Amino acid sequence: VVAQEEDRHLSGPLYNDDLGYPIVVGSGLGDEIATFVRERYGPVVILCDANPPVYAIAHRLAGVLQNASVLAFPLGEKRKRLSTVERVLDALVAEGVERTSLVLGVGGGIASDLFGFAAATYMRGVAYAHVATSLVAMVDAAIGGKTGVDLRRGKNLAGAFADPKAVFCEISALRTLPYRSLREGLAEVVKAGIIEGDDLFDSLEELSPHPFWQWPWAELVYAAAKVKTMIVADDRLESGMRELLNLGHTFGHGIEQASGYRITHGAAVAIGLRAAGLLALQTGRFNERDHLRVLTLLTLLGMPTRTTVDADAIFAAMQTDKKKRAGTLRFVLPRAIGDVEYGVTCNDRTVRSVLARLARPPEPPRARRR
Ligand SMILES: NC(=O)c1ccc[n+]([C@@H]2O[C@H](COP(=O)([O-])OP(=O)(O)OC[C@H]3O[C@@H](n4cnc5c(N)ncnc54)[C@H](O)[C@@H]3O)[C@@H](O)[C@H]2O)c1
Repeated sequence: VVAQEEDRHLSGPLYNDDLGYPIVVGSGLGDEIATFVRERYGPVVILCDANPPVYAIAHRLAGVLQNASVLAFPLGEKRKRLSTVERVLDALVAEGVERTSLVLGVGGGIASDLFGFAAATYMRGVAYAHVATSLVAMVDAAIGGKTGVDLRRGKNLAGAFADPKAVFCEISALRTLPYRSLREGLAEVVKAGIIEGDDLFDSLEELSPHPFWQWPWAELVYAAAKVKTMIVADDRLESGMRELLNLGHTFGHGIEQASGYRITHGAAVAIGLRAAGLLALQTGRFNERDHLRVLTLLTLLGMPTRTTVDADAIFAAMQTDKKKRAGTLRFVLPRAIGDVEYGVTCNDRTVRSVLARLARPPEPPRARRR
């Protein structure tokens, strides 16, 4: 693995430019970041998640960037609020950050959502770039320009579309990421694999029996991020195609909410991917073989595929989905691995019967008729 990492270092980082700003994937990106900052910006200030492993990365970067100051904030979903944004904005004023400055955020998805939103509002908007340290931030949160915070009545209800100037996916950071957080991101990588089919899904299947430390993370992050950038590039403001990225999420949000957030987002998405497969099977869209491949992959990756949360409660929670149109739920369903459709409406009875099946373990595939 060390040899592999050295090879990768020699071959350099991977670049994605689909969204008009660089998404750079690699290990030890300090020099890349320094060059980017030096070529385009004046003063730089670093905002980071105060969690020690993330702070350590920010601190090292500050050295490379020649004495950039580091402002650290304790984060976490409970602190993803307007009150924290105000604290960040006050700190930027105190630091004398000007409109020509670059704000460089360091951390996971909460950092990219919150710091990105703060930068979008500071003096009506200053340049922002993000150094992603969690898998969720690398393959999802930091890409696509959606920033924001939670309100008392729900998650991500206040925010802005604000593209970053660059995203740096610091793969070496994954070494300290707890398994729980890694798994949150893996659910999104599996989702990307089902949408893309082919290489990404095949690689995940091949890698799934191997320990995570042996995985070629830079290539996987690059491939999963590519699925997101290709879709977002076609639909920046979420009016169509971008719905594809909600595969597993309509059920997932319902499960997460009905469990009182006891079930984490990633785990709920994994169960949601099974539910989407079941609904697609039940409405005659999907085939059992691909459904089984998805279930096997999720299981090998240590993700849940069943839940004892009450089916009626999940159904009720699903009705508050933000993506509803004219009062009707719209599902994203697979027709095959690599062929996913969005905007599908289904009758409530079928949806409820899928939810009822989630309490049971997956059934073995039906024997083929001769
Ligand atoms: N804007 C979007 O498009 C979008 C998409 C997906 C998710 N999100 C948001 O992202 C958030 C979830 O992101 P997340 O899972 O990265 O959460 P997070 O930012 O809280 O990170 C998870 C945990 O890992 C820690 N951490 C981060 N990097 C680390 C590292 N390298 N080593 C050790 N610990 C590290 C964090 O301190 C935190 O405790 C949610 O608030 C969600 O709403 C936004």
